[in-house]
Amino acid sequence: MTEVRFATEAGDAAALVLFVGANGVLTAGAKAADAASGGQIGRAMKAANFDGKARKIIEILAPAGLQAGRVLLVGIGESSKADARLFEDLGGEVAARLRTLAASVAADFTGIADLAISTDVAAAHFGHGVELRSWNFDRYRTKQKDEQKAKLTQVTLVGARATPESEHLGKIAAGIAFTKELVSEPANVIYPESFVARVREKVEPLGIKVRVLDEAEMAQLGMGALLGVAQGSARPPRMLVLEWNGAGGDTAPVALVGKGVTFDTGGISIKPAAGMEDMKWDMGGAGLVAGVMVALAGRKAKTRVVGVCGLVENMPDGKAQRPGDVVRSMSGQTVEVINTDAEGRLVLCDALTFVQREYKPKVIIDFATLTGAIIVSLAHEYAGLFTNSDTLAERLIAAGNAVNDKLWRQPLSEVGGHYDQMIDSPIADMKNVGERWGGSITAAQFLQRFIENDTPWAHVDIAGTVWRPKAGPLHDKGATGYGIRLVDRLIADHYEG
Ligand code: BES
Ligand code: MN
Ligand code: ZN
Repeated sequence: MTEVRFATEAGDAAALVLFVGANGVLTAGAKAADAASGGQIGRAMKAANFDGKARKIIEILAPAGLQAGRVLLVGIGESSKADARLFEDLGGEVAARLRTLAASVAADFTGIADLAISTDVAAAHFGHGVELRSWNFDRYRTKQKDEQKAKLTQVTLVGARATPESEHLGKIAAGIAFTKELVSEPANVIYPESFVARVREKVEPLGIKVRVLDEAEMAQLGMGALLGVAQGSARPPRMLVLEWNGAGGDTAPVALVGKGVTFDTGGISIKPAAGMEDMKWDMGGAGLVAGVMVALAGRKAKTRVVGVCGLVENMPDGKAQRPGDVVRSMSGQTVEVINTDAEGRLVLCDALTFVQREYKPKVIIDFATLTGAIIVSLAHEYAGLFTNSDTLAERLIAAGNAVNDKLWRQPLSEVGGHYDQMIDSPIADMKNVGERWGGSITAAQFLQRFIENDTPWAHVDIAGTVWRPKAGPLHDKGATGYGIRLVDRLIADHYEG
């Protein structure tokens, strides 16, 4: 991962970032560099018609009089409007450009004036953007040419100081990196047991308590819905429980529940071949939960959080469950399995019952790549939010807007209401799919039937946001790390201290 450091000098960084405000106003640092280069920076700006508009960047190669081989002039526009988001995105953009070109970059914040935020905060977010965007997953490439290899390993923030905020952002970046790693690994590498091993190795040194249920223990607890999904796979399922108690004492925890289908073929209701490889990231909810725990424990959050990952592989097989099978969930409710590809809800329902019975949480949030239908509704921009609590909806949406992990609330009926009736079964308590329409809603209705005592609960359908086909300012195409900042912010704002 990229190292973020604070310093008073650029040192021997391979690339130098200088900031330019609206109408081409240079910061003090940029002015000094312009003088050192005999006015080359000013001339380059003129030649490129560069006026410091926010997000515009020009590059100068081999500048005279400067140590760096490459200068990036980065526009910040009206300084009073330059906020943390802008600096984060700029860091991301700089990293995307330099990833394969430079081992180190220094950004000069000296004399950057009148921002909407302090210089230290601006620098911290710039560094954060560099760190997030320079993450890569090249471990299985053996034939990369030197010019294709990721090289950027250090960002130096000149003229700024480390603060609690920069520390915090570093922990979040570690959580996001871990989630992206889990999500990006193929399913022959990450399956229930290896997911547990990879997470255990990461979180135990951070002081997180790890508890793992195997098949026999889950059978003992009556988790017939989860076990029905797992029965077609040669990989045994696991329930992974991560507990961080930074609150001191036995206060009711926040529960995070993640769908961890390490590969989803659809089972006997098998999916078409095209694009099926995407189903390696059907464990994105579990990956999110693991990454959040890393971030929270890393920053020693003063809160008690229990993270539960329901880990299974959904395969077709002689032993696989069939459409029409009836399974008994841990809650005692029975489910007619109409479609074995609607497996996520079968895994989550037992995880939800388990966490409620064993940990008595004050609030429950589940994260799942649950339906293709949510991508039809919201594309890759927003995750779908379903909740029985208006307060929780407000809190989640506000946290999401603050950190740019956006959520859009979707409708949910009461149990017995219109959407809920769509999953009534003629033979069991419910069936695992509704009709064609409103597929994300009926999936959420299914989960709601497992929430006890009106506990505030939210279901976040992240099928469109865990993995994006196009690069964004802070992630390459592929794993996004969506949700880590969302939960971290929600907890910091409402469930901490
Ligand atoms: N894991 C899929 C949902 C999914 C689809 C996630 C595309 C990411 C991208 C889920 O298990 C599934 O197969 N859902 C079905 C439900 C249907 C059978 C009611 C779907 O969305 O088609
Ligand atoms: Mn499925
Ligand atoms: Zn699935």
